[in-house]
Amino acid sequence: MRFLEAEFVQGFIRMANDGWEQGWHERNGGNLSYRVRPEEVESVREHFTCGEWQSIGTTVPELSKEYFLVTGSGKYFRNVILKPEDSICMIELDEAGENYRIVWGLVNGGRPTSELPSHLMNHEVKRLKNENYRVIYHAHTTNIIALTFVLPLEDKVFTRELWEMATECPVVFPDGVGVVPWMVPGGREIAVATSELMKKYDLAIWAHHGMFAAGEDFDLTFGLMHTAEKSAEILVKMLSMRPDKLQTITADNFRDLAKDFHVTLPEEFLYEK
Ligand code: 13P
Ligand code: ZN
Repeated sequence: MRFLEAEFVQGFIRMANDGWEQGWHERNGGNLSYRVRPEEVESVREHFTCGEWQSIGTTVPELSKEYFLVTGSGKYFRNVILKPEDSICMIELDEAGENYRIVWGLVNGGRPTSELPSHLMNHEVKRLKNENYRVIYHAHTTNIIALTFVLPLEDKVFTRELWEMATECPVVFPDGVGVVPWMVPGGREIAVATSELMKKYDLAIWAHHGMFAAGEDFDLTFGLMHTAEKSAEILVKMLSMRPDKLQTITADNFRDLAKDFHVTLPEEFLYEK
């Protein structure tokens, strides 16, 4: 099978393009990674040409010898669908989870996303909790970013406000949303802070920067990002009309919803306002 014909590669490319069409990926903004299944690795192995081992910049021992499809650093999401072999790559991790090497892609040179430490540390945390998690997605979601200038940077505030703006939200992300204060992107420090939040949540907001989402497949992960960002858009619209709400979904409404939709909503987010 040709590398680009593999279903997981097609799914990856489609998701990148969907994000571009949403307007979340100006220039080279955002990045995407997928932890490839062993049988998927075998289906494309004949196309591998292995590059030099390079340092990841952090250690992810639980991801020893795993393969990932990732966007390239400085590459534009709008080009992924047109020139995937130039924009994305597949990497293999070494036994210690300290180094990676490119086995396919980035044909004109380059390296995986500068957020590789965050992606891999998030994958590690998620995999330890649930082997089925395979996708980590970072997007520069406009409305979430706008809200990080006006709401307190607290998990409980963002979770409750996003839940209130769309009834589906507590069902789609019942665990809530975490918030990382502004930090320098691209390194280990922000990766540690983000992966700490990923132990509890599937969504982490980077103040004045964007959001990370984790999920089992491309649909769930894109859908999660989309749902949270849409809710943020409604909140931005509401705040633009007037500073307060005339009516909203109450803490008791959420408790009723939780019962009927069989989700557990932590009481820490159902505080009286
Ligand atoms: P990369 O081009 O290195 O993926 O960086 C984009 C980005 O969004 C950094 O946070
Ligand atoms: Zn970014």
